[in-house]
This record gives sequence, structure tokens and C-alpha cells, in this order.
Amino acid sequence: MDGASPLYDRLIQHEALERASFHTPGHKGRFFSPDLLRVDYTELPDTDALYEASDVIFRTEQRAAELFGAGRSLISAGGCSLAIQAMLRLASMRGGRILCARNAHRSAVNAMALLGIDPVWLMPDGGNGYTGRISPENVRAAFEACPGITACYITSPSYYGELCDIGAISGICHEYGALLLVDNAHGSHLAFLRENRHPLALGADMTACSLHKTLPVLTGGALLNIAGNIPAQEAKQAMALFGSTSPSYIIMSSIDLCVTYMNGMGREDYRRCEDTVAGLRMIADKRGIPRPGGECDPLRLTLNTAAVGLTGQAQQEYFEGCGIDCEFCDGENAVLIVTPFNTDGDIERVRRAILDMPISAPVTGRHEGFVLPEKKMTLREAVLSPSEEVSILCAAGRTAADTACPCPPGVPLIMPGEEISPETAELMHDKGIERIRTVKC
Ligand SMILES: Cc1ncc(COP(=O)(O)O)c(C=O)c1O
Repeated sequence: MDGASPLYDRLIQHEALERASFHTPGHKGRFFSPDLLRVDYTELPDTDALYEASDVIFRTEQRAAELFGAGRSLISAGGCSLAIQAMLRLASMRGGRILCARNAHRSAVNAMALLGIDPVWLMPDGGNGYTGRISPENVRAAFEACPGITACYITSPSYYGELCDIGAISGICHEYGALLLVDNAHGSHLAFLRENRHPLALGADMTACSLHKTLPVLTGGALLNIAGNIPAQEAKQAMALFGSTSPSYIIMSSIDLCVTYMNGMGREDYRRCEDTVAGLRMIADKRGIPRPGGECDPLRLTLNTAAVGLTGQAQQEYFEGCGIDCEFCDGENAVLIVTPFNTDGDIERVRRAILDMPISAPVTGRHEGFVLPEKKMTLREAVLSPSEEVSILCAAGRTAADTACPCPPGVPLIMPGEEISPETAELMHDKGIERIRTVKC
């Protein structure tokens, strides 16, 4: 290597830092042998084809469906984003309106724009610095207020690990004849813990699962899971509408190998990991470092370090100084993804980081001030219109052409098609958003 390959070189330099990985992918570089490169094949007479799967890919999908308790599972080598696109396409084919939690990931917003879906937004309950949860009461109120809803789309778990009451929400959706679609990007492993909290097991009709985030699967490997009573004939076609015609056989094979592992010792490993995280949480509790309340993903470690005075850039630097790469440091919360592929040494670094964290007066974030902006045009119109990026200081009065979120996992302050009011512009500025893409005047 002569230093002329900037991306590859940077990754190798990063590897040399030997930080403990508490981010995706779930395998932490420890599950696959370099041998996996041998299977970088394409569609050949004996290797099947993803969008016309009838042989080995179909068998892998059947094994995945059995593992997750789905009627049908479809492999995505284009991440959970592709599974979300297919899920929304299937829902839109039924007609009617889609009720969508406002904390939707950008991939869902973009898919809705491309599909011409004009969602009815549903606000999560006050997250107090976290994303917050969609409550069954709010779902029922939305069905009452807006007749003709045929699907409800929510994200659970949230980035911070908060779980929605899927059982109650699915019951309400079914009462109104609607489907419950769950962006379960962060919760593939939930099916294998002591209590099965996977949304499919709790009544969801379709789930998009980013296997690579928490299970030993290569980045880009995901599943669209469809419940047994939901017709799935159109699902492949829905995925093919958005997916590459060259899906990676390496990624697809990694899903196959993961299914084998989860059918073997995987469950035991993930259950042991629950104890590991519970131990770390206990230390955090003793030190007065708060975590999200209510029902949460047992494997997600979210530490509200702002409550003990560790915020902003210092937060990230503190963890890096402890030899830890977090999934995300938003200045207030540090989010760590723990899997069985973290070594004892990795866990010890986190334990020490929690024990040694300097404790000082809390710094409280500003979470108030969000008002649902006024809609000027549909998502589709806004995303596909000619647009320009402008300073947030002169954005008031313009229509957003993109989402703007203070931090990726949060509730966007503005969605495409909504007017940026002076108050929203000020709030965005306060949250550190400097520029925004707007529809060209
Ligand atoms: C909540 C949520 N949904 C969907 C996605 C998209 O997943 P992927 O990166 O596998 O396409 C992400 C990615 O971070 C996410 O956080």
C-alpha cells in the first residue's frame, strides 16, 4: 500500500487504533473468516437469483423465516433501507393513508417520497432527550381522527433502545383493519433473548430488520419479515423495484451463516450478553448516570452522560480516550451496541469508562419548542423539485426539500414539503443545524 487509496488506508489506520467497537456491525470483525471473500459470485445456473429465488437463496430465506417465526422472509443485501422501501411499497399497494411515526428514519421518508405516499404524522410521546415512544393511545386517536388509514408505520426499538408496546398497537391496527409495519432496524436480536420481544412475535405484520446492526451479518445484510397471515406474493417484485440487480453474494451468504449460528449456540451467546449489559447498567445506575426509562432493548446501553456533566465534544473524546468507539455520541447520550462478539477486554473498557467518568453538575438539553410545521406540498413534490442549500439564517419562509434532524436518530424538526417558520429556523440553529436544502423559489 502506498497511501494512495484514501478510504482503504483510513480504515486500516482506524483499525490500528485498536479501539473497542460498540457500533455496528454486530460481528465486530470477529465472526467471519477472510475465506468469505471466496464466495463473491454472481447469478449462475447453480447459484440462484435473489429476485427470482427458487433454489439456495429461497432455502436460505425459508430458514430465516423459520428462525424469526415469519411466514415469509426476504433477503436484502441493500440494508434495512431496501427492506423498508419494499415494506412501504407493499403497504401503498393496498391504497388508503399511511400513519407514520414522526421519528421515521430518512430511508422511510425518501421511500415515501418516491412512492408518492403522503403520510399522516404521528408524534412520539415526549422523549425527554431520547426519541420517545409511540403510545397505543395516540395510535387509536389517529385512527379515530383520520378514517381510511390502512397501515401504521413505527420505529421500535428506537436508536436509544426504547421499545413501543407492539402488542397493544398491533391490536388497535387490526381492530381498524390496518397493517402494522415496524422499522425494527435495531432489534433483529430481540427474537433470541430470554423474552422474545421481536415485533413479529408481538403482532406486527411486517418488520424491516437490519441484521448487520446487532447480529453477526456483514454490513448491508437485512431481512423483510412478513407475518404468516399476510399475502407475500408481490414482495419480491416490491423489493426488486428498488434493489440493485447485483446483490452481494458475500452479504447474502453471511445471512445464511448467521442463521446457522443462531440455530446453534447463538441464542445462548446473546442471552449471556443480556447479563453483561445488565451488569454495566447496574454500575451506571450506582454512579447516577441515567438511562431511558420504560421498556427497553436489554442489549442497548444508552448513557445520559449530560446528566453527570459530560456533554458535547468532550463526551466523544472521553470515550475515545477510554479506547471505545461508540455507535453514537449526540453530546447528551452515548449509545453503545453490545453483542457477544465484544471481548471481555472490550467490556472491561466500558466498565472502567463508567466507573471513572467524572461526575459534575447536570447539563440539561433544550427539548421543548417543537411545533408541527405547516405543510406546503407533498413529500414527493418537495423531494423531486429543483432545490438549493441555504444557510439556516435565511431559511425562514422557505419550503424544506429534505429532512432536518438535530441528530440522525431523533425526531426531524422539519420534513420535505413543510414550511420553515422563523421559530423552526431558530430551533434548528440552536441545535447546530447550519444549512438546509430547500425547494428553489
Ligand atoms: C431506525 C433506522 N431505520 C433504518 C435504518 C437503515 O438501515 P440500513 O443502514 O441497514 O439501511 C437505520 C440506519 O441507521 C436506522 O437507524
